[in-house]
Amino acid sequence: MGVHRNFILLLTVTLTFVTCNVSNSKIEDACNLSAELKAEIASYSSTVEKIINAAVDGSFKGVTYQELSLFVDTFGNRIAGSQNLENAIDYMIDKYTADGFDNVHGEEVQVPHWVRGSESAILVEPRNATLSILGLGTSVGTPPEGILAEVLVVKSFDDLQSKAGQAKGKIVVYNEDFDSYFSAVVYRSNGATEAAKVGAVASLIRSMTDFSLNTPHTGLQSYEENVTKIPGAAITIEDAHLLQRLQDEGKTIKMLLKMEAQNLPDTTSRNLVAEIEGTEYPEKVVIVSGHIDSWDVGEGAMDDGGGVFISWGALALLKSLGLKAKRTVRSIFWTAEEFGYVGAYQYAIDHANETDNLIFMMESDFGTFNPIGLEYSAGTTGGCILQEVMKLLASINATGTRQSPAVGSDIEIWTSDGVPGASLDTESEKYFWYHHSNADTLEAESTDYLDKNTALWASVAYVLADLSIDFPRETTDG
Ligand SMILES: *[C@@H]1O[C@H](CO)[C@@H](O)[C@H](O)[C@H]1NC(C)=O
Ligand SMILES: *[C@@H]1O[C@H](CO)[C@@H](O)[C@H](O)[C@H]1NC(C)=O
Ligand SMILES: *[C@@H]1O[C@H](CO)[C@@H](O)[C@H](O)[C@H]1NC(C)=O
Ligand SMILES: *[C@@H]1O[C@H](CO)[C@@H](O)[C@H](O)[C@H]1NC(C)=O
Ligand SMILES: *[C@@H]1O[C@H](CO)[C@@H](O)[C@H](O)[C@H]1NC(C)=O
Repeated sequence: MGVHRNFILLLTVTLTFVTCNVSNSKIEDACNLSAELKAEIASYSSTVEKIINAAVDGSFKGVTYQELSLFVDTFGNRIAGSQNLENAIDYMIDKYTADGFDNVHGEEVQVPHWVRGSESAILVEPRNATLSILGLGTSVGTPPEGILAEVLVVKSFDDLQSKAGQAKGKIVVYNEDFDSYFSAVVYRSNGATEAAKVGAVASLIRSMTDFSLNTPHTGLQSYEENVTKIPGAAITIEDAHLLQRLQDEGKTIKMLLKMEAQNLPDTTSRNLVAEIEGTEYPEKVVIVSGHIDSWDVGEGAMDDGGGVFISWGALALLKSLGLKAKRTVRSIFWTAEEFGYVGAYQYAIDHANETDNLIFMMESDFGTFNPIGLEYSAGTTGGCILQEVMKLLASINATGTRQSPAVGSDIEIWTSDGVPGASLDTESEKYFWYHHSNADTLEAESTDYLDKNTALWASVAYVLADLSIDFPRETTDG
């Protein structure tokens, strides 16, 4: 999961977290599906059991994890703009093609090309220490000799304003609270710009996480037009607290920051599409998706290797069971999500005339931990249908549905415009421990959880693509 290029979208997501977790029982009370439709959905139970059994205990057991392992072992992380990302996309195209999927192809997208280079932050006063840092995506670098400056620690933008007179020529450190990612991430996005406005020469943020073993976490930032571009990086929770204490103790803090980061010209990447074509309405599609790019740290196994591989796994599992739905089941691996949904925006433009055929869109980009169910964006009838569908997943205890006005990351471009969709809902409490850090490796993944998630993804996609009715497109009226 990255961050939104568009601030309006960011606000939408913020709202998600304060509103609208309508409970299952409340929705059920309001549900009024016909007995026929309920019976039709229930009639998929043997097919869904077949899918679940294959993934959890049969021929597909362990396959998602094995394939994800092979992928991250081969390619490691995959930042937009890198040849490595393109090699990883080619690998997946070859894999889908070799397995005989329909309509396998890449669709070109121009993507940002930011390179980190080497970087360091050395505390030189009041004592020597090397801090762990990660520059933020799109940050400029420092001059080759680095920036040697005093440090000013602030708790918030308001605190920065109240200390504005002391900020000139300093490295501003934001030791912001982390109540939630969505409330804190504005410091990552805008920290450098706000610091530059009061004359700072660089900006460091406390990493966006609630737990740390000295791991800095990168992510996207942006600059504002006509404001001096100063370097921006993330430091660890431990070091943010250290610097705060040193300042509170009245000590002068001095740091030498060196960053070689550069923004190079855009390069060409691709969204990757593969399908199991529908038998009756091939033009109508249910989408399963994740993003194939990652940050340039760790292995991008969790963000978003897991989402990509359960989407691959859903198609592969359906194919291995010979299950073809009436409508098309399409997997999309978005590119350059981390730079602000770049691939998804391009897809929305290129396929604008097909929006009416997008029956239901799914994305997994919040970890593939133990599944709980789906977080969805749909109207009342849609919610009632999903609730019936999720009852089919009782054997893996992933029957949950919760409504949210903004789901997923890339697919929010469509769901915010009324296309029904859902993201995977899992026990994701530890998501930010790994997110955008060197700790995002295969160790964050579990073979059993991946099996269950692949089963869930395949089951929901198949049933919604095969139902006698198109999934209803209503306003998200709760
Ligand atoms: C349920 O459907 C019936 C028949 O279509 C309708 O009369 C009734 O008002 C509906 N109830 C709710 C709660 O929507
Ligand atoms: C920090 O390291 C530098 C370079 O090695 C040295 O000159 C300086 O005395 C050290 N400062 C302290 C406070 O130890
Ligand atoms: C930036 O500066 C230019 C030139 O002065 C001006 O035309 C433009 O409107 C400014 N942009 C913003 C966002 O203030
Ligand atoms: C959308 O436009 C493309 C290119 O113009 C065309 O090939 C495709 O058939 C159109 N799709 C629909 C559903 O109209
Ligand atoms: C099933 O899931 C619920 C909620 O997600 C959880 O509270 C419960 O412990 C789970 N039960 C089992 C048997 O795992």
